[in-house]
Amino acid sequence: MANFFPRWTNWIPLKLVICGIIAVCGLTAATWYYATPKYTKIGYEPIQPVPFPHDIHVSQLGMDCRYCHSFVEMAAQSNVPNTQTCMNCHTQVQKDNPKLEPVRASWKTGNPVEWVWIYRTVDYVYYNHAAHVNRGISCFSCHGSVNHMSTVYLAKPHSMAWCLDCHRHPENFLRPDDQVFNLDWKPDDVKPAQFVAKYGQPHDAGEDFSKKQKLSQAEIGRTLKEHWNINPPTNCQGCHR
Ligand code: HEC
Ligand code: HEC
Ligand code: HEC
Ligand code: HEC
Ligand code: HEC
Repeated sequence: MANFFPRWTNWIPLKLVICGIIAVCGLTAATWYYATPKYTKIGYEPIQPVPFPHDIHVSQLGMDCRYCHSFVEMAAQSNVPNTQTCMNCHTQVQKDNPKLEPVRASWKTGNPVEWVWIYRTVDYVYYNHAAHVNRGISCFSCHGSVNHMSTVYLAKPHSMAWCLDCHRHPENFLRPDDQVFNLDWKPDDVKPAQFVAKYGQPHDAGEDFSKKQKLSQAEIGRTLKEHWNINPPTNCQGCHR
């Protein structure tokens, strides 16, 4: 039989094998780099001087994040509360609880409690809390369900890919601005008629959102994105200034 294929095609299987090996190696390296716990540190939960229970203070006592993290809406950095803030209550409540001893010591000496910082962005990245919190991005999207944590642990990777995931598709995360501090909020909580009266609906919606039973995250997100003209930076200078 005549040689039907030209001679060079003999090399195709070998080329495929080589390409395959390179692809697998690349993928392994990438997964290793981006997904291993060392890189993402998911679950990192340092031992704090006081095991401060967010679940008790937020979910049980109904405290707002801003009672303690009072700069989060106004500044780039959120703050961790000072001893005075704790002592507003703990001069009366749980006066003898040994867990609160470091707070009482700080109160006496004037030296701050040495909380261990969990979330920390590297110096060459610009990040601003107020820009996010005032634009319908909840603490929940970046820190997880802090209101149900007995002590805070790192819940999201805060890697570059993670930031960009939202910057490319903010509609998957945007919520009404009065629900930013309600970490248990769900799209089902939205009343469509009220929502549309306040925020309108996308110009290309195709149906009347106010007549719907429920709105999905996508519908809510698209509306808010258009209403606030949301356009998060995806260019390098946006975050590396
Ligand atoms: C009664 C005061 C108080 C309230 C209310 C409070 N926090 Fe905190 N928060 C603290 C203290 C103290 C720390 C530092 C100790 C720690 O990390 O557990 C902290 C730490 C954190 C951290 C980790 C910061 C870091 O990187 O080290 C996050 C995230 C956080 N809080 C989010 C929230 C959110 C979200 C809410 C509202 C749902 C909230 N907090 C309500 C007192 C409070
Ligand atoms: C608005 C009042 C209020 C403020 C402010 C407050 N707490 Fe509390 N805290 C309470 C109450 C009330 C309890 C008791 C809850 C219970 O018994 O279920 C409590 C309990 C505690 C406990 C004991 C939990 C346990 O399991 O034994 C710790 C620790 C604690 N608070 C730390 C702090 C620290 C640290 C701060 C400051 C960052 C702070 N609290 C600020 C009201 C407050
Ligand atoms: C878009 C993501 C995002 C949202 C939304 C967000 N945070 Fe953060 N948070 C971060 C990043 C990133 C850091 C690390 C900042 C740094 O290193 O300067 C951080 C750090 C913190 C810290 C440690 C102190 C600091 O500023 O470094 C606290 C406390 C905190 N956040 C509380 C909150 C609370 C409370 C909310 C909701 C009102 C919230 N964050 C919403 C991303 C977010
Ligand atoms: C869950 C969604 C979400 C995540 C996660 C997120 N962002 Fe954003 N980011 C936004 C939105 C929404 C805006 C506001 C855009 C607007 O106002 O048009 C924004 C705006 C910004 C801006 C411009 C604000 C200004 O002051 O100029 C910077 C810078 C930024 N983000 C950095 C970051 C970095 C760094 C991270 C990761 C550590 C991050 N963001 C994670 C949603 C997010
Ligand atoms: C939305 C914000 C954002 C944008 C846009 C962004 N970066 Fe980053 N970049 C980050 C964050 C956050 C980190 C830190 C990651 C970490 O600490 O894990 C980072 C880290 C890096 C690093 C250090 C290597 C690494 O992975 O830790 C390089 C290099 C880098 N970025 C280059 C770029 C370039 C080039 C662009 C434009 C194509 C860009 N970045 C756009 C947020 C951003």
